[in-house]
Amino acid sequence: MSTQTNKPNPRVYVINGPNLNMLGKREPEVYGSLSLDEINRQLDTTAKGLGLDLIFFQSNHEGLIIERIHEVFEENPAGIIINPGALTHTSVGLRDALLLLSCPIVEVHLSNIHKREPFRHTSMIADIATGQLTGFGHYGYQMALNAIHQLRQIL
Ligand code: DQA
Repeated sequence: MSTQTNKPNPRVYVINGPNLNMLGKREPEVYGSLSLDEINRQLDTTAKGLGLDLIFFQSNHEGLIIERIHEVFEENPAGIIINPGALTHTSVGLRDALLLLSCPIVEVHLSNIHKREPFRHTSMIADIATGQLTGFGHYGYQMALNAIHQLRQIL
């Protein structure tokens, strides 16, 4: 009997948008004191325990993020975790790129965007994401990874 499985490869993309490279320095009362590197390191430790491989990408440029998503499309990854930063509220292009993907998409925000200024209440990707985690600080990324792991178990 074949031992082949339909499970997608164990890769999970972790994509962060504009200004998230400044975490730790940027409005720590809103976004916390950990740097993006520290968050990613913690996430990597969790991922290893779950048998997942993380690929990290951060850019301040919308087009570069969209091109990275096109590369994700060429694979069959276990999922994508994305915090698009301010692009969340503005980018139809990002939404269109994510529409290419058939893997789970988890939208993460450190702050609770629904508790903030009205212009942050709209997400261009919330209705096409598998789910949104907002307001749990850096722990939101861990929750997203666990969600992708769980979804992978039931495939
Ligand atoms: C953010 C929320 C966005 O409104 C903001 O522009 C960010 C970060 C968050 O993680 O809470 O850059 O996505």
